[in-house]
Amino acid sequence: MYDFTPLNGLDRSDSSKWELMRKQNPHTGPDIVPLSVADMEFALAPEIRQGLMEYLETVVPGYGNLSPSYYSAVCSWMTKRHNWNIDPQWIVPSNGVVPALFHCVDAFSEPGEGVIIMPPAYPPFYRAVTLNRRKTTVCPLVIRNGRYEMDFELLKTLLDDRNNTLLLFCSPHNPVGRVWEKAELETFSGLCLKSGVTVISDEIHNDLLLDKRPHLVLPEISAELAEKTVVCTAPSKTFNTAGFQTSNIIISNPHLRKKYQEAAQRRSAGVELNIIGAKACELAYTKAEPWLDALLPVLEANRDFTETFIASRIPGIKVFRTEGTYLQWWDCRGLGMDSGDLERFMTEKALLFLDEGYIFGQEGRGFERINLAAPRPILEEALSRLEKAVKGR
Ligand SMILES: Cc1ncc(COP(=O)(O)O)c(C=O)c1O
Repeated sequence: MYDFTPLNGLDRSDSSKWELMRKQNPHTGPDIVPLSVADMEFALAPEIRQGLMEYLETVVPGYGNLSPSYYSAVCSWMTKRHNWNIDPQWIVPSNGVVPALFHCVDAFSEPGEGVIIMPPAYPPFYRAVTLNRRKTTVCPLVIRNGRYEMDFELLKTLLDDRNNTLLLFCSPHNPVGRVWEKAELETFSGLCLKSGVTVISDEIHNDLLLDKRPHLVLPEISAELAEKTVVCTAPSKTFNTAGFQTSNIIISNPHLRKKYQEAAQRRSAGVELNIIGAKACELAYTKAEPWLDALLPVLEANRDFTETFIASRIPGIKVFRTEGTYLQWWDCRGLGMDSGDLERFMTEKALLFLDEGYIFGQEGRGFERINLAAPRPILEEALSRLEKAVKGR
């Protein structure tokens, strides 16, 4: 019913990822597809496209107001996909999770205080901290038995320091692709509860769970921690609608919600959601679930294909298993290049445009993040180019 194969007919002229590729290597031919920034090289779900076209036939685009059907679409989705019953009043719409992270740092910490993040980490986590003049406190993930885990010992020490008042958590984790298990989340929440920290749980990748894993929403792990948690969600990763800039920040504690709303008002002058983005969100959550269910096996197959290809043909790279997200994290240190050489090798020799590991913090040096959400022939082509370039060194 859904076609995840063709690229023909997709308009990527306004894509930041494509533009970035042309900047990195102006000589890139038209047949090269970038595999960096986290959006997908797949067409919009037909249910959303059709619904938007019908909406545009009749809408009068004056100042908008989010209808009760918007809120009920978000609530039903959280119940259905995540077994999480939320009250519509908890939902604070935002024109992106990234702006919301910035508001949260402002709302829930003071200048000079420490904000804990777990690198390798999504670059705006760093910016939200430093541009708000807070101190970045890192609790790097550790690799055990070929898999990333949280360092609970270090986390406990950092949480004991009362100057660390806020923690930015990523679940599932971008870029390493971990889906945190119940026992890990319980230990994490136990430690957070013992300290005074407020937790911002960025769960934007929460629908992109591979191998039928469940996503465990942080507030469902502990009702007590729920009182100190802000959860960031959005349809944008799930349905490839990042350009519509619509996300939902879910805050059950009215005191935290008020603080967040005040910060958001102050910082973005109370800008409301764009009505087209809001309509796309409602359509996604009410009509496009079958599209998502068809997408997930495509992502799993791409993940398996890439893992097998690299394990059998490019021994200098080690692939970490993606459990959630459509991102895959490669340890390229076995290729024996420093991060500058690695970047040049990828963009000039292999013509691969990935996200360089160092943008996720110094723990990412020598690593690369590849976006697997592309038609299979694109990945096959890209990996063959890489194999050829590695063998030709
Ligand atoms: C962890 C994480 N948070 C937030 C975002 C982006 O959020 P938004 O586009 O809603 O600002 C991304 C995009 O890749 C992400 O990986």
